[in-house]
Amino acid sequence: MKTDVLLGLQWGDEGKGKVVDVLTPQYDIVARFQGGPNAGHSLEFDDIEMVLHTIPSGIFRENIINIIGNGVVIDPAIINSEFETITKLGVNLFDKLLISRKAHLIIPTHRIIDAASEASKGKTKIGSTLKGIGPAYMDKTGRNGLRVGEILEPNFKQRYETLKKKHIEFLKQFDYKYTIEEKDFFEGVESLKRFPFVDSEFVINQALQQNKKVLAEGAQGTLLDIDFGTYPYVTSSSTICAGACTGLGIAPKSIGEVYGIFKAYCTRVGSGPFPTEQINETGEKLRAVGHEFGATTGRPRRTGWLDMVALKYSVMINGVTQLIMTKSDVLDTFETIKVAVAYNINGKEISEFPYELSDSIQPVYKEFRGWNRSIAPIRKYGELPAELREYILFIENETGVPVKIVSVGPNREETIIK
Ligand code: GDP
Ligand code: IMO
Ligand code: MG
Repeated sequence: MKTDVLLGLQWGDEGKGKVVDVLTPQYDIVARFQGGPNAGHSLEFDDIEMVLHTIPSGIFRENIINIIGNGVVIDPAIINSEFETITKLGVNLFDKLLISRKAHLIIPTHRIIDAASEASKGKTKIGSTLKGIGPAYMDKTGRNGLRVGEILEPNFKQRYETLKKKHIEFLKQFDYKYTIEEKDFFEGVESLKRFPFVDSEFVINQALQQNKKVLAEGAQGTLLDIDFGTYPYVTSSSTICAGACTGLGIAPKSIGEVYGIFKAYCTRVGSGPFPTEQINETGEKLRAVGHEFGATTGRPRRTGWLDMVALKYSVMINGVTQLIMTKSDVLDTFETIKVAVAYNINGKEISEFPYELSDSIQPVYKEFRGWNRSIAPIRKYGELPAELREYILFIENETGVPVKIVSVGPNREETIIK
């Protein structure tokens, strides 16, 4: 069998958590391949509303193995609070969660460096989630990082202290006051020891050979990718399809479907360019109706219209085979819906995503008629308003990829599979 990959095509928060939870019953394994507690993946089912940061979104389904892959960075304190919340909901994590011993650890001083670095940048700050993601990946690629497997080594504390010392030295360049809180970190480290540490590459490849089905769950989105995102306003990992290969240890030939998920409009949290952003009543309405506040930081998300130039770029980079459109219901009460089909830069129209998204970009919009009725109760594709089906057909024609799932609400049930 192959590994299917589900990943975000915009700036994150496309609804990955919800849709992974919906698709999980078709799989044997769900695996996170990158990112860390900067992610906030929301799930809603029965009377439960849950936000997952590190644990894969397949965790609430029966008989599914969930894997945290080597490409992920783990904050023991944060994952420990996830363990507690999920256990309180009656889920036995011990028979369904495996953690790669090659995943890297976020230590308390990584978070301090993140905060100090952001503070020093002033207006040019990235708008990081302040979870220590960038510094932890810097230590990984700089070959100084601590891996989950090291927790079991007798000299773990010593290696931790060595890294902490390096961080304290590094922090001297910043005019930044801090205290190092380590209690939750070490409690989390002890808590992690209760779980099986595995080599995800063996677990997944053996599962594939046994004809098991694997779903790789992305975090963030393509426009936040370290290489292809809106650099430097990006995260520090490979959020694209290729990241599933390096973040789990699987070969490109074992990738099957690539599900690309996008909102029917667009949001971004943190700094950086956003050509279709609406800093006006339209943007405020999108934020209010779509409850666009960060699942991890609570920050208001910036909002705007769908951007086909960017979407087509993301489809290309990832080799998307099926599209998933979420939050379609948020557009229910808009008379007119706009989509950027090109960028006008200094009088020249371009339809290819440029090297840099400068402030001088003027999006060229195509307008669509709204449907002016509530679609949340609809479960059959054919019953969706004709205007919405026209909107979807346009997206399919532009990208050359079918829209296979339309999400019409945050709940597991509010999903239309075409
Ligand atoms: P993720 O990071 O991609 O998993 O997305 P988030 O969970 O951060 O943000 C998506 C938000 O939209 C969450 O609050 C979801 O509950 C909600 N959501 C997901 N799909 C839909 C949908 O189709 N309609 C509406 N109204 N909300 C949705
Ligand atoms: P999910 O998985 C939306 C953004 C931050 C910031 C930039 C860098 O829920 O879609 P970082 O903390 O990674 O150094 O921040 O990336 N960002 C996200 N935005 N959704 C996310 O994850 C994000 N993870 C990081 O806001 O702009
Ligand atoms: Mg999110």
